[in-house]
Amino acid sequence: MGILSQLLTITLLFGVPVFCQYDYEDDYDNEMDNEYPSIFHHIPSIEYAIPYPSTPAQCAKECFCPPTFPLTMYCDNRKLQTIPRIPSHVQQLYLQNNDIEAVPVESFVNATALKEINLSHNKIKSHMIDTGVFGKLSNLVQLHLEHNLLEEIPSPLPRSLERLLLGFNQISRLPSKDLEGLVNMTMLDLCNNHLEDSQLKQTHFSKMKNLMQINLCSNRLQSMPPDLPFSLMHLSLENNSISLIPDNYFQKLPKLTAIRMTHNNLHEVPYNAFNLSNLVELNLGHNKLKQVFYIPRTLQHLYIEDNDMEVINVTLMCPTIDPLNLNHLTYLRVEHNKLTTPISTYAFFCFPHIRSIYYGEQKIGANQQTQLRTPVFQRYLTPEEYEEAEDHEEQDHDHNQRERDDDYFDPYVY
Ligand SMILES: *[C@@H]1O[C@H](CO)[C@@H](O)[C@H](O)[C@H]1NC(C)=O
Ligand SMILES: *[C@@H]1O[C@H](CO)[C@@H](O)[C@H](O)[C@H]1NC(C)=O
Ligand SMILES: *[C@@H]1O[C@H](CO)[C@@H](O)[C@H](O)[C@H]1NC(C)=O
Ligand SMILES: *[C@@H]1O[C@H](CO)[C@@H](O)[C@H](O)[C@H]1NC(C)=O
Ligand SMILES: *[C@@H]1O[C@H](CO)[C@@H](O)[C@H](O)[C@H]1NC(C)=O
Ligand SMILES: *[C@@H]1O[C@H](CO)[C@@H](O)[C@H](O)[C@H]1NC(C)=O
Repeated sequence: MGILSQLLTITLLFGVPVFCQYDYEDDYDNEMDNEYPSIFHHIPSIEYAIPYPSTPAQCAKECFCPPTFPLTMYCDNRKLQTIPRIPSHVQQLYLQNNDIEAVPVESFVNATALKEINLSHNKIKSHMIDTGVFGKLSNLVQLHLEHNLLEEIPSPLPRSLERLLLGFNQISRLPSKDLEGLVNMTMLDLCNNHLEDSQLKQTHFSKMKNLMQINLCSNRLQSMPPDLPFSLMHLSLENNSISLIPDNYFQKLPKLTAIRMTHNNLHEVPYNAFNLSNLVELNLGHNKLKQVFYIPRTLQHLYIEDNDMEVINVTLMCPTIDPLNLNHLTYLRVEHNKLTTPISTYAFFCFPHIRSIYYGEQKIGANQQTQLRTPVFQRYLTPEEYEEAEDHEEQDHDHNQRERDDDYFDPYVY
């Protein structure tokens, strides 16, 4: 795979967080505007092949069941306080943006075909979810419970589950047994909860043998989560208070392609911490790092803005140059450090693919800012490279919406 197509893959996967500062509120408003189209967008294409039932399918009177999507029931944005009875044929159930407080077993007794439930943006508390209500749904693949009032993970959950979204709740308890059986899980989102280290210590994430993405951003973690699964590709830990990455921590996670740890409390990292053979994006902005570290060959995007670096020692990042195995680094952000001179030009031998280095403003005194001569370094591109870059930018433009998802991994990747 060429560098550019890899880059494009990354863009498609979770956007290129280059300039924008993420704002959850903002993004939410935006999604709301697009609510209707996005619902249709998420309906798996396989459903189109299913023949329409000869008699009109049942539909709860509060909801809407479009004739063109007979297995889908829309009950979203209706100020509902209770969940209607769900007919047995329904596979996708949309209940987001209501005032629902409880998840009673009665509503779900016949709903064994359910594959996807969206209960996000409601007022559900953990003790208002009837025991076993989700556990019985043996075809459930995707469960959205973000933006509720949950204090713990609902339990039990069905073993068929692949994507569980629990962001923006008040979860502080994470009973280990609840997650262990979920062998098919690929994506777990627990961002914006109240999780502390002590809770994660008892959780055996590694039993989720297919987990590719775990989001633990905006919690109360002070150390790296223990026992992550070998299969993990995306790790999101931004906005915690993590101060240390233990030696060899990532060695057990060789498939990692993206690590996001902005807004933590890192003062240093082990020199070899990120020597990973699949790493493409590394985001360590807004920490307190003084020193750079070894850059693996595959890394394309490195973000170390707003740290305490006075020099960026290229020899450390790139101790040797292998002309047959060139480093892939393309973007580098270093603004809001304490640099007084630009990075040594040796960088362009080590990292021949570098297109831009963002120097921005640098911190010199307590509250003083200064600017290097060039706030943005743009490398001169050959005509071929220029054309490729243009193509790439057009693609970027099409995916503008996704790029807004900056600090937050797109939960719908898998
Ligand atoms: C479940 O299905 C049975 C048989 O079709 C029906 O009699 C019953 O009313 C249904 N229950 C609910 C809660 O929908
Ligand atoms: C679930 O609902 C939220 C709104 O709360 C919406 O943004 C999201 O697109 C929905 N997801 C799916 C897969 O339907
Ligand atoms: C897990 O996924 C595989 C492949 O899609 C499927 O065959 C299997 O039944 C799933 N396991 C459970 C417990 O649903
Ligand atoms: C960081 O997390 C805290 C809660 O832990 C939250 O209040 C705050 O909004 C988060 N900040 C960002 C930039 O996400
Ligand atoms: C990176 O890891 C490889 C083996 O995985 C090792 O051979 C190499 O020496 C390491 N590089 C550095 C700079 O430590
Ligand atoms: C960069 O690091 C190397 C290896 O540790 C060291 O020998 C060299 O003096 C450093 N260069 C600067 C400019 O600090």
